[in-house]
Amino acid sequence: MVYSIAVDGPAGAGKSTVSKIVAKRLGIEYIDTGAMYRAFTLKLINENIGANDLESLKNILKKTEIDFINGHIYLDGKSVDKEIRENNVTERVSDISTIEIVREKLVDLQRNIAKNKSVIMDGRDIGTNVLKDSKYKFYLNASLDIRAKRRYEEIKDKGLSFEEIKKDINLRDEKDKNRLVSPLKKAKDAHEIDSSYMSTEEVVDYIIKYIEKEGN
Ligand code: DC
Repeated sequence: MVYSIAVDGPAGAGKSTVSKIVAKRLGIEYIDTGAMYRAFTLKLINENIGANDLESLKNILKKTEIDFINGHIYLDGKSVDKEIRENNVTERVSDISTIEIVREKLVDLQRNIAKNKSVIMDGRDIGTNVLKDSKYKFYLNASLDIRAKRRYEEIKDKGLSFEEIKKDINLRDEKDKNRLVSPLKKAKDAHEIDSSYMSTEEVVDYIIKYIEKEGN
């Protein structure tokens, strides 16, 4: 039977690390929707198109292909796993993801991917909008300090200080929570997990046990 698991939460809560492992253990596909918003943001940067230029945005959306193949993200046929994690993309992605026509296209894509196969999908609006009917919904959270510390450990080599990373994450959270279209919030029926003092393995085990208990 096809089923889906929705994982939402703020930046740096560990959603992708946890979701990847859960996907492997359950033998289902992991879909990173943040990577899709990042890929489209990368395209706008490459094409030099601003967030306010709606006409160009509409045109470019029609000509943009974003795919997941074997866990890698492709933009117009080219793998862009690395490029989408660069600072220039991270700085702009929250603004780009507030644009309604961008969300419409990516949400359509996300729903199509989940139509015929079981997935664990992470993002900001998965349980509240994209896969509203998911049987399993989780809201993964952790304190701002801990999320910033984890992100700092991950990207230390990029030259950003802990304070800069903390400020960026906080700013992104504010934008994601306060936008008009599909803001980040816990779905009423989502199960909240505060991972501040939990290891990755503990969160993974918790999710898998929860799913096994509920059954498919
Ligand atoms: O998960 P991430 O940090 O890679 O996501 C990048 C940005 O994309 C995030 O700041 C907000 C946006 N996003 C979104 O609006 N909706 C989603 N479902 C996933 C991400």
